[in-house]
Amino acid sequence: MGVNIDHVAVLREARRVNDPDILNALYVACASGADQITIHLREDRRHIQDIDVKNIMNHSTLPVNLECAIDKDILNIVSNLKPHRATLVPEKREEVTTEGGLDVFTYEDEISYAIEQLHDSIIPVSLFVDPTIEAMEKSKELGAEMVELHTGSFANIFAMLNSSLSHSKHSIKELELPRYELQSRLEKSLEDITAAAKHAKKLGLEVAAGHGLNYHNVSHMMGIDEITELNIGQSIIARSVFSGLADAVKEMKRLTTR
Ligand code: PXP
Repeated sequence: MGVNIDHVAVLREARRVNDPDILNALYVACASGADQITIHLREDRRHIQDIDVKNIMNHSTLPVNLECAIDKDILNIVSNLKPHRATLVPEKREEVTTEGGLDVFTYEDEISYAIEQLHDSIIPVSLFVDPTIEAMEKSKELGAEMVELHTGSFANIFAMLNSSLSHSKHSIKELELPRYELQSRLEKSLEDITAAAKHAKKLGLEVAAGHGLNYHNVSHMMGIDEITELNIGQSIIARSVFSGLADAVKEMKRLTTR
């Protein structure tokens, strides 16, 4: 399990102070059973900053999986930092989070060049892709060691079915779908993830999955043996607010009671 701690930096950047300290998140994740730390150095630096990557790399007792876009400056930074692995992800400035996998067909030259550059720095590369057979084959052809299957679409359908939905613009139309239609879309999305994972493994690729996984839907991924790594962020950090809020309020109450 890779724990994505970007979301702690999102909260910190809302105030631009060093609270919550990302290194505390690192220590807690490392001490609590995480197998990997995942962070995303975005071009717009909306959460993780360059100094965070350096500090996390210096202090982590676990492998660091650094997500990054196919951008010249970012790739140079990543090549110098030498994380345990780089995961190439698509990035749009206006997006709220990574939406959809890398388009490995349209950008095959750019991706191939990025993989070569990272390999020159002895950094293994994972590609964050949609769960299709074609994307598995192209990822292998481009020279990646690993794929991370984008589970966002599965997670959205799961949320709609269980009506704990994100009120995202994209989802509203589908919300009107009858339950049986959502159920069949969920089954189809699980079949796609399973088939992609099996095919990737057959091609000799390592297989991870991530995006939108939470305490309710993650068990579906545990049924797919070929997936050996899950990267999870939002749901863990969101839950930690409530598992820690009572203590935080009590402690401040104690300090403010005469
Ligand atoms: N994997 C990748 C490649 C991602 O971009 C993200 C989101 O930053 C995640 C996993 C984690 O997604 P979530 O925060 O929805 O758990």
